[in-house]
Amino acid sequence: MTVPLDLPELTADESAHSAALAAHVHAVIAKAGGWIDFAQFMQLALYTPGLGYYCAGARKFGAAGDFVTAPEVAPVFSRCLAVQCAEVLRNLGSDDARILELGAGSGVMAAELLAELERQGALPAQYLILDLSADLRERQQATLQQAVPHLLDRVHWLDELPDAPFAGMVIANEVLDALTVQRFAIRAGEVNALGVSVEFGQLVLAEVRGGERLVGAVRQIERETGVALPDGYESEVCIGLPQWLAAIGASLERGVMLFVDYGLPRREYYTAERTRGTLLCHFRHRFHEDALTRVGLQDITAWVDFTAVADAAQASGFEVAGYTTQAHFLIGAGLGDFVANVEGLDLVQRLNLSRQAMMLTLPGEMGERFKVIALTRDYDASLRGFSTRDLRHTL
Ligand SMILES: C[S@@+](CC[C@H](N)C(=O)[O-])C[C@H]1O[C@@H](n2cnc3c(N)ncnc32)[C@H](O)[C@@H]1O
Repeated sequence: MTVPLDLPELTADESAHSAALAAHVHAVIAKAGGWIDFAQFMQLALYTPGLGYYCAGARKFGAAGDFVTAPEVAPVFSRCLAVQCAEVLRNLGSDDARILELGAGSGVMAAELLAELERQGALPAQYLILDLSADLRERQQATLQQAVPHLLDRVHWLDELPDAPFAGMVIANEVLDALTVQRFAIRAGEVNALGVSVEFGQLVLAEVRGGERLVGAVRQIERETGVALPDGYESEVCIGLPQWLAAIGASLERGVMLFVDYGLPRREYYTAERTRGTLLCHFRHRFHEDALTRVGLQDITAWVDFTAVADAAQASGFEVAGYTTQAHFLIGAGLGDFVANVEGLDLVQRLNLSRQAMMLTLPGEMGERFKVIALTRDYDASLRGFSTRDLRHTL
């Protein structure tokens, strides 16, 4: 597969790193008989211990990394999220309420959120972090140590989901898009699985007839959207989502799960016009579609099918209590108050705050591409982030 020409050159260390992971992927493919599905490839590329993109020390986040996320570039995002968390924690009225953050990245959201919850007098008894990446755990610890050292005793890093269900919240920003997906292609009316194989020593995309689960998932999409996907259509589906969400949901006895991510309702995701799906790779702020190049050095993500998230949540006993755009969520959660309350800020800080608010809310930026979904169990009280616009009917 040719490397898109506009990607920056690799250093010798980067090339060696990628070659080592590619060799591992080759070995796994050989052991599997010559072909692995795309979800397995993505798992290897992102999470192979010591070599995968999220597990091997690359910079990843921020200007010097590969992509930016809202909490990385706009602390006011986490402050608004804290307002929503404070409301839920107060309504739950438990002294032992906890927040579990999934995929905490560099730890900036946790640090800002805890600081704001402290200002609001609404700290949880514990702040739990579960991340697939052991490498990022060290970074999260350093971030929290620097920003909120006095709150560190409340923060606990987990190796797996808690044994006993708790009252509180599960939160995750840009984690759903990192879940591994299966890719498929429609050929002569049949569903093929697009996976990875080796040809002339190179990783290549290769198709086999889709297995029962994949075919079932694609046919369900067609039934629900009322669209027969045309020949040549390629896309992806997160087959593991229901199981993943059920496991996470089982840790929450009562409370709210909040997921923020870029995505669409199913009817807008699988349109006949979007013939190549939504899978994208991120390398130094360049986006491209070639997941088989620079293995281990680039992020691989797909947009989130929020209808699938809602269905999976309901199947696990949760209610979909809110679904809206990031812009409306943040406005509902008090973004305007943070922007208006500029007392004590100098001009540069004020301008910076306005810039953050625009980036988070403008339709051409993150405002509409990103959505927020609230999934509740045994929680009937209000959720202010969803008070300004209800988009649940689109799911
Ligand atoms: C795109 S980053 C987002 C990081 C951070 N939440 C932010 O907004 O800056 C994805 C994060 O999710 C983690 N991750 C991916 N899949 C996960 C899973 N199944 N469980 C927990 N963490 C996961 C990755 O290791 C990484 O920290």
